Amino acid sequence: MKVKPTLKTYSNNSMEKKYEVLKSICETRKSCRSFKPDMFPEECIEQILNIAHKSPYANGRKNWEVIVIREKPIIELMSKTVISSIENISDQMDQDLSFLFKNYSKNFTFFNKAPVIFIPIFRISPTIQSILKDNITPEMLLWERDNSVKSISCVSMLLILAAESLGLNSCYMTGPLLAQEELAQILKLPTGRLIGSIIPVGYCNN
Ligand SMILES: Cc1cc2nc3c(=O)[nH]c(=O)nc-3n(C[C@H](O)[C@H](O)[C@H](O)COP(=O)(O)O)c2cc1C
Repeated sequence: MKVKPTLKTYSNNSMEKKYEVLKSICETRKSCRSFKPDMFPEECIEQILNIAHKSPYANGRKNWEVIVIREKPIIELMSKTVISSIENISDQMDQDLSFLFKNYSKNFTFFNKAPVIFIPIFRISPTIQSILKDNITPEMLLWERDNSVKSISCVSMLLILAAESLGLNSCYMTGPLLAQEELAQILKLPTGRLIGSIIPVGYCNN
């Protein structure tokens, strides 16, 4: 006898399908560290941003946005700035440590090969600071800062999953943020805005 599907079986099936789609996106995603120069369809940028903007956020404040950089000279300047920051930091180290540090940071600058870079930026919402004023403790200040950092991490994660779902490759990068201040200047960020990550997006070379 043919069993008539109920509302429950329909919704179970569609939930299973959603899970399978998400699972395959998560399983195929891998960090890409070598990009082809080819540009991808422009509409993908908007699609990626649409998903990133669905991200959850702490403190009831959406204190972030995502900027998109396609201009090659700016991307190159950002990469050169990170390289010189690494040089400056390692110059102050003993030779052995300098060698280790340079080796560790070799994956902080390849974003210059990608055609587009997404940069989630945020500011620390002083919600609890405005309530407690002088009574705020260092622990609570750290907790408040962490909330903003955790929120922007969610944005970055959704962004790389969105890229993957469109057949694009990416890498979640915080290494370049060793040069946070210099990068913020290049990007002309308003005072108090912080860079959450650098996410190059494009087609992987391998
Ligand atoms: C917060 C965070 C920061 C990262 N920063 C860098 C980075 O600066 N350079 C880099 O090459 N990879 C970076 N990665 C990527 C990790 O190295 C990578 O996700 C990890 O090795 C697992 O590999 P998979 O992404 O291919 O699964 C970062 C990942 C996270 C979550």
